[in-house]
Amino acid sequence: MDARKTGKNAKLTVGDKSWEFPVLGGSIGPEVVDISKLYGQTGMFTYDPGFTSTASCESKITYIDGDQGILLYRGYPIEQLAEHGDFLETCYLLLYGELPNKTQKSDFDYRITRHTMVHEQMARFFQGFRRDAHPMAVMVACVGALSAFYHDSTDISDPHQRMVASMRMIAKIPTLAAMVYKYSIGQPFVYPKNELDYASNFLRMCFSVPCEEYKLNPVLARALDRIFILHADHEQNASTSTVRLAGSSGANPFACIAAGIACLWGPAHGGANEAALQMLMEIGSVDRIPEFIRRAKDKNDSFRLMGFGHRVYKNYDPRAKIMQKTCHDVLAEVGHKNDPLLQVAMELERIALHDDYFVEKKLYPNIDFYSGITLKAMGFPTSMFTVLFALARTVGWIGQWREMIEDPEQRIGRPRQLFTGAPRRDYTDIAKRK
Ligand code: CMC
Repeated sequence: MDARKTGKNAKLTVGDKSWEFPVLGGSIGPEVVDISKLYGQTGMFTYDPGFTSTASCESKITYIDGDQGILLYRGYPIEQLAEHGDFLETCYLLLYGELPNKTQKSDFDYRITRHTMVHEQMARFFQGFRRDAHPMAVMVACVGALSAFYHDSTDISDPHQRMVASMRMIAKIPTLAAMVYKYSIGQPFVYPKNELDYASNFLRMCFSVPCEEYKLNPVLARALDRIFILHADHEQNASTSTVRLAGSSGANPFACIAAGIACLWGPAHGGANEAALQMLMEIGSVDRIPEFIRRAKDKNDSFRLMGFGHRVYKNYDPRAKIMQKTCHDVLAEVGHKNDPLLQVAMELERIALHDDYFVEKKLYPNIDFYSGITLKAMGFPTSMFTVLFALARTVGWIGQWREMIEDPEQRIGRPRQLFTGAPRRDYTDIAKRK
């Protein structure tokens, strides 16, 4: 453990008994009370649904200050990485802890691009799915199935196999994601082209067809690369915690990432960009915004402004600012500068940022607010949005999974519960039941 001992203790008093627990410090961020011995010493658990006050692990990868709206990957602000770097550089940084030098970068890019093809039998695996299946359903299955194709990288106790599995997933998940898209629209799969950069290769696998020459648009490729950087990691969110929990049992890395993809699918997490775009389409025009704001504030209406609010950010999500600019760049490039959805989004944002309800609850636009419009303008259908999120988040999941496996203190994750069900009772024969 690298946490700092602060020398302070937290005192817990229950009735006439008291216990002390050490307070630990990280390099930045709030101090934590180490309650790992709480049950042993007191016979009590803590109760924290949604883990809002619980640090589940020690990590050196990503830091968020939600009150200030700060996001750092290995100490580097997300704004700087998105402005100056590329996605594979971010991948290297997240995995190894430092920015690569020139040789390390070209070696890493080379290793990733040599792994982009998937086993040819994977193509046949697709035939079992209905064409109208949700792409995330197919992604969960295909990524989980990688462990059935790449047996030589599933031994988690071997550092070399862990690295090979990591490279494989970063390289192959874009290929699978593009195959999922092509399958859904009935077009032939497009093989990766290793001379292209990561985002350009993905765009080509999604949008080229064998009968025409595909012209890459560098503005769209750069925008997509930036979107990947913004989504690469976000510390212990629901899907990352899912990956860590799955991995804590010793499950193979492909199965763990598939579990993360399943968790990401939900509308409160990765599915929010799809939901945000659907909401903007439902609003349709600026004059209908007040009606939706009213509904979002109504306690008796389950409607929420999708793309607003965040468990951790109680300030403007720093990724949302970059996403907003990327959205403008993409819409200008594809000639949709006056897209009515963008007008609705900008006006909705303006109103919500000044409305007492949203101000008091610190509900700001999150990354998903503008990403849906951007991806739509690039040509992706809404059902692919979360797939793109999964593609980008793969490196974060892998980095967190590896950190956990390499942590000598890691144990199987096993939360406890506050049981409120029936106490012990005896079985009654069915004839005697009421
Ligand atoms: N619209 C209207 N009211 C909201 C919204 C919203 N989008 N988000 C939160 N609130 C209200 C909520 O009703 C509650 O009010 P009250 O205190 O009166 O009961 C209060 O704000 C706190 O909300 P919460 O649900 O307790 O907060 P949470 O931290 O559990 O939830 C959230 C965070 C992101 C799930 C939630 O804000 C939400 O559902 N947002 C819409 C979905 C969304 O955009 N999700 C993407 C998250 S960012 C992508 C990612 O990192 O995965």
